Amino acid sequence: MARIWLLNGPNLNLLGVREPAVYGRATLADCEALARARAGALGATLDFRQSNHEGVLVDWIQAARDGADALILNAGAYTHTSVAIHDALKAFEGPVIELHLSNPHAREPFRHRSFVGPVARGVIAGFGAQGYALAVDAAAGLLGG
Ligand code: DQA
Repeated sequence: MARIWLLNGPNLNLLGVREPAVYGRATLADCEALARARAGALGATLDFRQSNHEGVLVDWIQAARDGADALILNAGAYTHTSVAIHDALKAFEGPVIELHLSNPHAREPFRHRSFVGPVARGVIAGFGAQGYALAVDAAAGLLGG
């Protein structure tokens, strides 16, 4: 069974109430439900987590070396700032998928740089909560599921 981990970074716990014009009305629990439904349909297991703390995300990415076959990461604002997350992802041997609800390239210039992108197999951005299901599809597909 493919083991997929989906990690969420800072402020994503506020989905649903945070800038709904940008991120939509779906909550993180709604995103999780979409991802879980897709994982279930594909026969994959899903570990779904969120933290506001960079070091916690680094710890989880390191733990994924043993626990996950593929990693999906919506690193939130750390996408644009974190060399530590970039380095941790480099040590993960399976495929990494960068995920965003919005399309950072259509937003402020400071969101155009990603420290996740250079170590990702692919990027899913701009599809709102539905992107969570698309990312699980992509991860399972890369694992041959
Ligand atoms: C985000 C995009 C980031 O630029 C932003 O800092 C977020 C959310 C997204 O899912 O669209 O927190 O990762």
